[in-house]
Amino acid sequence: MGFKVAVDGPAGSGKSTIAKILGENYNLTYLDTGAMYRMIAYKSIKDKVNLDEISEVVELLEKVTIDMKDNKFFTDGVDVSQEIRTPEVTSIVSKVAAIREVRVKLVDLQREISRGKDVILDGRDIGTVVFTNADLKIFLVASPEERANRRVIDFKNKGIEEKFEDVLSEIIKRDNFDSNRKESPLKKAMDAIEIDTSFMNIEEVVRAISVLIEKKK
Ligand code: DC
Repeated sequence: MGFKVAVDGPAGSGKSTIAKILGENYNLTYLDTGAMYRMIAYKSIKDKVNLDEISEVVELLEKVTIDMKDNKFFTDGVDVSQEIRTPEVTSIVSKVAAIREVRVKLVDLQREISRGKDVILDGRDIGTVVFTNADLKIFLVASPEERANRRVIDFKNKGIEEKFEDVLSEIIKRDNFDSNRKESPLKKAMDAIEIDTSFMNIEEVVRAISVLIEKKK
C-alpha cells in the first residue's frame, strides 16, 4: 500500500516547499499535483485549445504525455518547468482544473504514480478525493496577504518584478474559483490537521508536520 501523506491548501500556503523538504527527510516520493494541472494549461495555450469546447479538451488529453522527473516537468518530452509558472499559465490554470475530464485523467495518473510507494502529494483535493484514506492529511493555510507577499519574494528571487496588489488579487480570485467549483473543490478534509503558517517560518512548519509523520510511521 505504501505510506501516504496529503498536503492540501490554497495557493501560496507553502505546500510545495514543505512537501518537498518532508519528502527528502522521510524518503517519500514527492508529487506536485498543481504542476500537472499547469502542464495541461500550458499545453492548451500552446495548442490554442478552446476550453469551452469539451471535445477539444478531450482531444488534447488523449494525445498529450506528461512526465515528471527530479522536480522537472515535461509535456510531450519537452522540459516546461519554467513555462508552467508564468502568469499566463497561472491565469488560466483554475479554469483548466475545474474541467471534470481533466481531473479524472490527472487523478488516475496521481494514483498510478503513487501505487505501492511511500508518497507525499500536494494539491487541493488529495485528502478529499485522491487519497481519502491517506495516513496523514495536512491542510495548510495562511492569510492572503502573507501568501501574496511570499509569491512576490519568490518572483523577486527569480528576477521577476510583480506588484503586491496584482499578486494579491490573483490569489484571491484563484482561491474563490478553486473553492467554489463543482468538481473536487478546495476543501479541508474532515480528518485533516489544519496548520496556519501565517506566522511560522519554513523550519517551524516542517518541524510541526515531522512530529505528526513520526507518530504515524
Ligand atoms: O498549486 P498550484 O498553484 O501549482 O496549482 C495550480 C492550480 O491547479 C490551482 O489553481 C488549482 C489547481 N489544482 C487542483 O485543482 N487540484 C490539485 N490537486 C492541484 C492543483
